[in-house]
Amino acid sequence: MNDYLTNQKSETVKRFVVFEGGDGSGTSTQIELLRGKPHVWTTREPTDSLIGCLIRSALRGEITLHPETLTRLFSADRNEHLFAKGGVIDRCNQGDLVVSDRYTLSSLVYQGVLCGDLPFKLNEDFPLPELLFFLDIDPQIAMRRIENRSDREIYEYLEFQELVRERYKSLVPQWQQKGVRVIVIDASEPIEAIARKVAQEIDALRKE
Ligand code: TMP
Repeated sequence: MNDYLTNQKSETVKRFVVFEGGDGSGTSTQIELLRGKPHVWTTREPTDSLIGCLIRSALRGEITLHPETLTRLFSADRNEHLFAKGGVIDRCNQGDLVVSDRYTLSSLVYQGVLCGDLPFKLNEDFPLPELLFFLDIDPQIAMRRIENRSDREIYEYLEFQELVRERYKSLVPQWQQKGVRVIVIDASEPIEAIARKVAQEIDALRKE
């Protein structure tokens, strides 16, 4: 199942860790559990910048943007996230472990469904993280989790989440081939069990 090929460059950023997965896979919950650890900076995409707020408003369906506009906004937000003063690269260079809830794979997966090659072009120059946690979940289970939420977003329906999972499964091994350490986690496991696995990996990286 290698239909989608990432052309992302192979340069990796040391101490940069990314969580990815479909909606309802629990990436945000796991990141929340890492907050406050010494020398760990937790962050997320879309970010809390003005661009990120605009994106979140589109995700909630409050404004309608052309899918390609949204794709470009995600990469503009990412550019600031990475390269702004105090951003990902700066913090990694200062010795912090930066843990981000989502990164380029989210664009290749989600925007790839609607915009073909555009997300691949817009994201090819961004560097790779050192470590990726892929929280893999059956979309049926994820949708049951999501259905209990009050604030639903535009990608949160079963057919879309099935495409999302398929694309992650195709793209994640390609990151591995490019030198990213990949940990695939069964996201239907209890939160505490996942958190233990995550903590082990994060603590090992902090000691390096
Ligand atoms: P969250 O709900 O996990 O915070 O993520 C927000 C949504 O944005 C989620 O459905 C994934 C989506 N997303 C993209 O479609 N492209 C991206 O590049 C990013 C970072 C997120």
